[in-house]
Amino acid sequence: MALRQRIIVKAGSCRYPVIFSRHRRQLGKIIGSADRVIIISNPTVFSLHGDKFVYNYLPDDLEVVLLLMEDGERFKTQKTVNNLYDQLFSIHLGRCDTIIAFGGGVVGDTAGFTAATYMRGVGLIQAPTTLLSMVDSSIGGKVGINHARGKNLIGAFYQPRAVVVDPVWLTTLGRREMVEGLAEIIKVGFLSSAKFLHEAVDTEPVFSAGQKKRVNYLIQEAMKFKADVVGQDANDRDVRAILNFGHTFAHAIEKAEGFRKYRHGEAVLAGMVGAFYLSYASGHLTKSRMKKYQSYLNQFVKDLAPLKRKASDYLSPMYVDKKGSNGRLQFVLLEKIGCAVLRTVRSEKKVLEAIEFMKEFVNNKGVL
Ligand code: GLY
Repeated sequence: MALRQRIIVKAGSCRYPVIFSRHRRQLGKIIGSADRVIIISNPTVFSLHGDKFVYNYLPDDLEVVLLLMEDGERFKTQKTVNNLYDQLFSIHLGRCDTIIAFGGGVVGDTAGFTAATYMRGVGLIQAPTTLLSMVDSSIGGKVGINHARGKNLIGAFYQPRAVVVDPVWLTTLGRREMVEGLAEIIKVGFLSSAKFLHEAVDTEPVFSAGQKKRVNYLIQEAMKFKADVVGQDANDRDVRAILNFGHTFAHAIEKAEGFRKYRHGEAVLAGMVGAFYLSYASGHLTKSRMKKYQSYLNQFVKDLAPLKRKASDYLSPMYVDKKGSNGRLQFVLLEKIGCAVLRTVRSEKKVLEAIEFMKEFVNNKGVL
């Protein structure tokens, strides 16, 4: 389990480092000669880790302006962004300033979208504090907010100047948050290699002293994988789509069940089961592989809330998912570990079957 030293993300013409805790002094260089920095965070995260972040990572003479937004997916809205704009205007934030998004995916996406659009863009540094945002949303420049019609429907590609990762921030995460981060790591396992998949599914969703080294390793490998994919397709035109394995189902679950009941990573866990079934039903995956792959998720689905809606309630949001185009349903399907393809599925019946299968698996707490 070698720990990687350095990850550089190359996205189109942008190039930026992932700064791990041991290289924390680099952050000052990235902020440059500015005499202030704006941190956007939420009260929970900032009260737990904010002071240490400022003390450990930022140069002593830098003025820090803290803007807090409310905590939770339901605050990833235009209203929150407008509120942030107002505060940025009142402190006369200019194009040379830098915003640091210090928090989980909601903060990263909302603060990132604010940075991308305020005065056509100011500097952005992503400092993800959850496992999920470390391995997924902080890398690759997707920023955005939700719309009444669906999740992440308003947004931009806006690459940060750096991503800062310190696993010490994971020490205060609960089991649910660890499960959802592991879900995205397991997804990377299905997309990359059996070895990595096994390392991921053999990990308990807790950040204990005994697991620290393993979790650090999983984070770095998952970030490296994502950086490689983003490097090939920064604007999500082709290969980057594979990162959305399980996500068409997941976004539909979040929409149908409500963002409070189902967190993103939890929905991805369930969504992968739907995607396995659909891969099988459309002839991409053998039945025995489908059974084997879903069995890897048994220990994690136990933590999920039941899926209570009728199948058609999960189907309708799939038509407005960004991966659906011209009213067609598009899914990332798996052929085997390390081999995923983006396909249009014309049979609504098969999608409904996959939804029923996913519901049964989740409601049965695994093992079908
Ligand atoms: N979360 C998928 C992506 O960044 O493309």
